[in-house]
Amino acid sequence: MAARYIVPALAVAGRAAAQCSAATTTIQNGGDASALASCQTFSGSIAIATGFVDTVSLDGIQRISGSLIANNVTQITQISASSLEQIDDSFMLNGLTILTTLSFPRLTEVATLDWEALPALQGLSFTTGVQKASQVSIQNTQLNSLNGINLQVVDTMTIANNPYLNEINMQLGNISTSLVLEANGRNVSATFPNLEWANNMTFRNVSTISIPSLASINGSMGFISNFFTSIVAPNLTSVGAMGGGSLSFVSNADMTNLSFPELTTVGGGLQVANNTALNTVNGFPSLKTVGGALDFNGNFSNVSLPALSDVRGAFNLQSTSDISSACSNFKGLSGSNNVIKGTFTCSGDQSHPGGAGTTPSGTSSSSSSSSSTSKSSANGLYISGTTGLLGVVAAIFGVL
Ligand SMILES: *[C@@H]1O[C@H](CO)[C@@H](O)[C@H](O)[C@H]1NC(C)=O
Ligand SMILES: *[C@@H]1O[C@H](CO)[C@@H](O)[C@H](O)[C@H]1NC(C)=O
Ligand SMILES: *[C@@H]1O[C@H](CO)[C@@H](O)[C@H](O)[C@H]1NC(C)=O
Ligand SMILES: *[C@@H]1O[C@H](CO)[C@@H](O)[C@H](O)[C@H]1NC(C)=O
Ligand SMILES: *[C@@H]1O[C@H](CO)[C@@H](O)[C@H](O)[C@H]1NC(C)=O
Ligand SMILES: *[C@@H]1O[C@H](CO)[C@@H](O)[C@H](O)[C@H]1NC(C)=O
Ligand SMILES: *[C@@H]1O[C@H](CO)[C@@H](O)[C@H](O)[C@H]1NC(C)=O
Ligand SMILES: *[C@@H]1O[C@H](CO)[C@@H](O)[C@H](O)[C@H]1NC(C)=O
Ligand SMILES: *[C@@H]1O[C@H](CO)[C@@H](O)[C@H](O)[C@H]1NC(C)=O
Ligand SMILES: *[C@@H]1O[C@H](CO)[C@@H](O)[C@H](O)[C@H]1NC(C)=O
Ligand SMILES: *[C@@H]1O[C@H](CO)[C@@H](O)[C@H](O)[C@H]1NC(C)=O
Repeated sequence: MAARYIVPALAVAGRAAAQCSAATTTIQNGGDASALASCQTFSGSIAIATGFVDTVSLDGIQRISGSLIANNVTQITQISASSLEQIDDSFMLNGLTILTTLSFPRLTEVATLDWEALPALQGLSFTTGVQKASQVSIQNTQLNSLNGINLQVVDTMTIANNPYLNEINMQLGNISTSLVLEANGRNVSATFPNLEWANNMTFRNVSTISIPSLASINGSMGFISNFFTSIVAPNLTSVGAMGGGSLSFVSNADMTNLSFPELTTVGGGLQVANNTALNTVNGFPSLKTVGGALDFNGNFSNVSLPALSDVRGAFNLQSTSDISSACSNFKGLSGSNNVIKGTFTCSGDQSHPGGAGTTPSGTSSSSSSSSSTSKSSANGLYISGTTGLLGVVAAIFGVL
């Protein structure tokens, strides 16, 4: 009789349905994990219990509608999910001390990828590769490659403190919120061949940066404590044009050349500070407008800004070298109806060249090469609208 077979079939279906849906199911052991294998879609989140030992296999599941979470699971070595294609919410791994293997050969899409403190993880087995994520944070791992994460689209990405990671190469066309790279491998190269625009980007401790297609930065961009000798943005035309974002180059000890040949507009501050090997600042041949402060201090002897036509904030040039000819040139452009509208400071032969708002100390015979205005130092903190020096301060303490 047919009915004899219907009853067990329904029972199996009922059990499967119960297993495949939960706000969060916490798996304690291999048996709990394999019980999920029949779920094509798991509706809800899966957490791995802190006491889980050895390997976690979630083979069979194709989609998790919530998150996949493993926090402080100090005794797992491997997590695999051979069929998993999509995690609708977070893929969060934190404090997995001996995890060496992450095998997700079909994973292509996750909303948030948040990996932190994975000190034994050196590589990924992501054959297809994650192409779509809105938030990505990978910090404190031993990854030596991001092969398996090749995003086409991302909103926010932070890759930091991965000391063996020497290559970051992504096909991204744009970064809608922010990118931060910091303290990865000593020889890390950052390559974004297709990147056309980004909101904020901050590069720290990077050895090579390639951004050949970058045309605009909607917010701010900063280069701090990098190791490169040269930074080139051949196609970049504007930074922070709408919202007053800043462009800054700070403490890049080996940088001898910066080249931004098409850059015409910086909506906020433009800062070139403490780049000790930079002798010539001639990398902004097309720069016309700086909405905030223009603040250059360091060791340079040559500064040219041939297209400059509008600086709305303070103008500060201070150098250890003699910059008297640059100073007399720019002095002629200053004045409230002239090119440089904010407080004008220009001084060479400084033992400690300072940033905008500082008063040159005039260590040597700088009086002839210096032409600081006689405004009080309070006026030195000239602020134009919401930008001006604030733009530079934001550049130093905000994005960076
Ligand atoms: C992991 O454990 C540490 C203490 O051992 C605790 O401070 C931390 O909040 C835990 N992290 C998570 C994500 O549960
Ligand atoms: C962002 O980049 C992606 C991938 O290159 C592209 O498909 C999308 O059209 C871009 N969006 C905008 C607003 O430029
Ligand atoms: C640094 O990386 C570049 C490629 O970006 C490579 O050519 C070079 O050999 C690397 N140097 C060291 C010391 O690893
Ligand atoms: C990395 O950059 C930070 C500041 O952005 C700096 O404090 C740190 O010294 C740099 N590390 C190295 C190894 O240069
Ligand atoms: C540079 O910008 C121009 C004009 O927008 C564009 O045609 C060209 O393809 C860009 N170059 C690169 C390398 O993206
Ligand atoms: C950033 O600027 C680009 C180019 O001007 C534009 O296409 C994009 O929509 C802007 N993005 C945001 C988030 O405003
Ligand atoms: C200037 O940069 C050097 C490294 O190039 C760094 O050691 C020093 O702290 C920086 N000084 C300031 C005032 O930022
Ligand atoms: C700086 O870099 C640009 C672009 O790569 C190059 O054309 C120029 O010759 C370099 N200048 C110096 C002084 O190395
Ligand atoms: C200027 O350059 C000299 C020689 O390279 C270096 O010793 C000095 O520290 C630099 N000073 C500043 C303020 O960058
Ligand atoms: C400054 O630049 C001019 C023209 O670009 C060049 O002739 C001169 O040698 C440079 N001076 C120094 C000290 O680099
Ligand atoms: C972009 O950088 C600016 C300047 O530091 C900061 O005020 C702003 O909050 C950043 N925006 C995002 C989305 O990170």
